[in-house]
Amino acid sequence: MSDSKLDIEIRKLIEPDFNLIDGFIETQIRTIPRDFFFPPSSTIIKMALKKDTGISHGAFDNEKLIGIRLTYRPGLDIENHGYDLNYDNKQLNQVAQFHGTLILDNKRYKGIGNRLVSENVSDIFNGFSNIILATVHPDNDSSIRMLEKNGFDRKVRTFKYSNLPRLIFEKRK
Ligand SMILES: CC(C)(COP(=O)(O)OP(=O)(O)OC[C@H]1O[C@@H](n2cnc3c(N)ncnc32)[C@H](O)[C@@H]1OP(=O)(O)O)[C@@H](O)C(=O)NCCC(=O)NCCS
Repeated sequence: MSDSKLDIEIRKLIEPDFNLIDGFIETQIRTIPRDFFFPPSSTIIKMALKKDTGISHGAFDNEKLIGIRLTYRPGLDIENHGYDLNYDNKQLNQVAQFHGTLILDNKRYKGIGNRLVSENVSDIFNGFSNIILATVHPDNDSSIRMLEKNGFDRKVRTFKYSNLPRLIFEKRK
């Protein structure tokens, strides 16, 4: 789908995009307050790109990657935020988990994050999963707004990723 106003295309990310995404995260991480974005491991990126374990989207401006939304299925792995919400195993196995949304520094606050989340959510609910979980730093107002605008509910406040404060957000189909 393309956006004539911004000339942005949103499309699904696939396994051959791994190096592109890895490089994008490496350069953009320096532009974000230190505790806001915990970089995903290579394993999580790979799971987010594999068809049976993930469903992820990228925003492209004339073929240049300018934003990512990585989502994977953690299953019963300890990383699953469903444990913090007392999910049973059936629910844990259903979870589609966000690992951050990241927009190129000079393209932020133009609605691209909102669009990436919206398209990612509708694809997830189209057969991949019925439950989505996301975490956000309690001071990351724009990210919280982005999730709330897309219908996510704030659940609990906890610590994640080696003791960083995080709010857990949930969205159900
Ligand atoms: C957080 C982020 C993904 C949001 O995506 P975005 O494309 O920049 O944001 P959007 O244009 O979709 O707007 C989202 C909200 O940001 C807020 N916002 C708008 N302009 C802003 C500004 N100049 N400064 C701060 N926040 C602003 C608004 O509340 C907006 O919601 P609204 O349109 O309902 O008012 C993006 O800014 C980003 O990559 N930030 C750095 C990485 C990060 O923190 N990721 C989240 C980790 S969970």
